[in-house]
Amino acid sequence: MSDDNKETAGSTGPREDGGRRERVIGTPSPAREKALLAEDNISAPAGVGEQLDERSAKRAERIVAAFFLLAFASSVAFIAYFIGWSGRDGGMHGLLDARENNFWLGGTMALAFLSLAAGVTIWVRRLMTSKPIVQERHELAADEETRAAFSRDFMEGAEDSGITKRPLLRRTLLLAAAPLGLAPLVLLRDLGPLPEKKLRHTFWGEAVKQAKEQGKKGVRLVVDGTNKPLKVSDFAAPGSMITVLPEGMEEHLPEDEVLTQVAKAVTILINVPAEQFKPAKGRENWHVNGIVAYSKVCTHVGCPAALYEQTTHHILCPCHQSTFDATDAAKVVFGPAARPLPQLPLAVEDGYIVATSDYHEPVGPSFWERG
Ligand code: FES
Repeated sequence: MSDDNKETAGSTGPREDGGRRERVIGTPSPAREKALLAEDNISAPAGVGEQLDERSAKRAERIVAAFFLLAFASSVAFIAYFIGWSGRDGGMHGLLDARENNFWLGGTMALAFLSLAAGVTIWVRRLMTSKPIVQERHELAADEETRAAFSRDFMEGAEDSGITKRPLLRRTLLLAAAPLGLAPLVLLRDLGPLPEKKLRHTFWGEAVKQAKEQGKKGVRLVVDGTNKPLKVSDFAAPGSMITVLPEGMEEHLPEDEVLTQVAKAVTILINVPAEQFKPAKGRENWHVNGIVAYSKVCTHVGCPAALYEQTTHHILCPCHQSTFDATDAAKVVFGPAARPLPQLPLAVEDGYIVATSDYHEPVGPSFWERG
């Protein structure tokens, strides 16, 4: 920096010895800093103005560069893995894929940030000289006069409230405050009990079991709202969608359980045009002439995936716009949901559409799977 670029001092005013103070813009070089300190008769602290040992500085430089290269390689690996992974079949929407990919994506990103941080830390510690930075602060403590005024006001207020003279008020106030203090402890109770296996099953499983005990193929689907069992012929128009439940929920469940079970078992039935339907591997016989059933509970955070777009055959969740492809095992085509809507196996019995088992995976938000 040239002398022209120095400003007249902020540490201000002429010095007692008649010289001028100077403010240096930017960090002064070690030599310049030493000179400035010497001008003010301040001895340099350890490290300030020390000449770095060139050999150890070179070594540190190489270490720092190695960390930066590692950060670069990790970032490139992150991007390459992300692109390669999302192009794979199933991509981010397969549960097992997601676990593996989270590991690799998280690992490469963490390595990139750690390497960067390590490089910068070594750079600062080994290649820069240490220097004191002094920041002016005013006294934090209030002065005597203010403190005395506060004490006086406080005691006047206490005297005026009568808290010392009226023990009844004092004790009832403490009594009133005590339960409030305990309230957070009471809330801890809501952390349990754990749901264990309850979230893995819906009432479809129970209903199918009962139907099979009576020698039937499965449980009939009834229309939500009317409870009318559904025939294949009632649902023959391609492109239609309807909400269904297992038959007999109200008869078989205690009244206070019905709503909870309905919330888990609620299912959408869609008639997908046969020529566009792509049954998933292993589920070839889970549909009836293109009539297919999926859980209505969105796998993102559980809103009802209640909208169906006939032209694209997309099921939409209105909460955060997750979109599932009804023709392709309800795979996620857009939005934050991490996995497809679970599919319910269907069959025909006496002209009625029946479910032949429970869902094969937990319905609802993905974290439930770990419950
Ligand atoms: S709950 Fe369906 S997209 Fe969020």
